[in-house]
Amino acid sequence: MLEKVIQYVDQVFGDAGKESNIPHFKRALYWLMQIRPDADEPTQIAAYAHDLERGLRKEASVERFRTMAFDDPGHLVPHQRRGAETIREFLQKQDYDPGKTEKVYGLVLHHEEGGDPDADAVMDADSISFFECNVQTFLGLVPKLGKQKIKDKFDYMYDRMAMSEAKQIAEPMYKKALKCLDET
Ligand SMILES: [Fe+2]
Repeated sequence: MLEKVIQYVDQVFGDAGKESNIPHFKRALYWLMQIRPDADEPTQIAAYAHDLERGLRKEASVERFRTMAFDDPGHLVPHQRRGAETIREFLQKQDYDPGKTEKVYGLVLHHEEGGDPDADAVMDADSISFFECNVQTFLGLVPKLGKQKIKDKFDYMYDRMAMSEAKQIAEPMYKKALKCLDET
């Protein structure tokens, strides 16, 4: 089922003209397998599909964050819920095992918070992949959103991490991101 989910997620983002998001999902899955090599298929699916909502969003993200912090629950809660509901609907249509489908739903629903070893691994893989793939995009938003808001996002993505071994991987990337921000 993982292959079908990859195709589906890539298609959603392709149709939305947001193909540039796809490397972040590929690397989230890659890092998940580095930090939790025994991750099961639902956890792998959640790592790839965690940001599905971003592919469905109509409004320009930059406009949303002019008036909102990146970690505002008013953004994060619906972001997680819509992504979780959409991937659940897709898996149900594919007749995926109901128990595994619910596991994917729960992991996407809590990918910003973690809470158990699988959820923590998805969240931390997302953070590492963020620092690897998304920093340049966020640096490019400095003229529109200001340095402090971008620093808050970098801090949030690093501070929330739960697994010490994952945090060690992210630490040099986080420090480099802050240095680049400082020089922007
Ligand atoms: Fe993400």
